[in-house]
Amino acid sequence: MPKKIVIDCDPGIDDALAIALAHGNPDLDVVGLTTVAGNVGLAHTTNNARCLSAFYGMDAPVAAGADRPLVREPVVAEQVHGGNGLGGVRLPAATSTASAGYAADFLVDALAAAPGQIGLVAVGPLTNIALAVRKEPRIVEWARELVIMGGSYTRGNRTPAAEFNVLADPEAAAIVFGAGWRPVMIGLDLTAQARAVAAVRERWRGLGRLEAELISPILDFYGSHPHYRDEGPAVHDACAVAYAIDPGLFRAVPARVDVELHGRFTTGMTVTDFDAPAQRCNAEVATVLDTDRFWDLLQAAFSHVATRMS
Ligand code: BDR
Ligand code: CA
Repeated sequence: MPKKIVIDCDPGIDDALAIALAHGNPDLDVVGLTTVAGNVGLAHTTNNARCLSAFYGMDAPVAAGADRPLVREPVVAEQVHGGNGLGGVRLPAATSTASAGYAADFLVDALAAAPGQIGLVAVGPLTNIALAVRKEPRIVEWARELVIMGGSYTRGNRTPAAEFNVLADPEAAAIVFGAGWRPVMIGLDLTAQARAVAAVRERWRGLGRLEAELISPILDFYGSHPHYRDEGPAVHDACAVAYAIDPGLFRAVPARVDVELHGRFTTGMTVTDFDAPAQRCNAEVATVLDTDRFWDLLQAAFSHVATRMS
């Protein structure tokens, strides 16, 4: 039986690849997409989720969620993802615009209906997950797992100390890391090992419309950002989905993760203590990726999606 997951996302170029990976992998069943404001505003992230879902041939419901962080002013990443969140790529309009309700409600209802069966993969700011935890604290027991793309145990990307998803809503991240479950943190140290360099992209040639209309143009845009020009674009969010598919591709170690909320230069930093005593550890932090097997996983999933599209 494939594992059921909900992806909470802010598509987002690497979000788009993560959704394709999840849909194309036979071991996962995407039972919903929830959207949050992040890389771009909520109207764009939600429209992108709907259009991507239709483009890939998915039938998962899309539930729009928080249009701003819990406390702070919105921070976006248009310079990395383009004004529309997909590097200017315009996909065919989504055929169905039916709403699956409000994201936090959708998350609570889905988890309540199937305790222990659904995993959450969070690849945007953690606002929706925090709201869901506040609405129904028992979701921390009901979720089969929580995999978070966010944070870092060395350096940030949006600031020297902070990774974008955590910086964009640090209060939400603090609630989620402190909620009593055991999330897996897929941070920048890990995702820096997953760069779609030319040799990787070469393997995706021949994927028809998926490659020509989406993957190539979005990665051309994303890869031109100064963060990625030298070493290649990191496909952060796809790493979190890969963990949900096969944790065996990763080394992950227990740690205590606290989110800095009051730093003068360090707000949004995920302060990670690998030496914390076991009873203080609140997360598993991924440190090493088996890159060869990771790219094989993406190749197989993308081929599957591409074949069914054409
Ligand atoms: C994260 O921030 C976003 O810009 C990406 O989609 C990813 O989720 C990387 O820091
Ligand atoms: Ca994202």
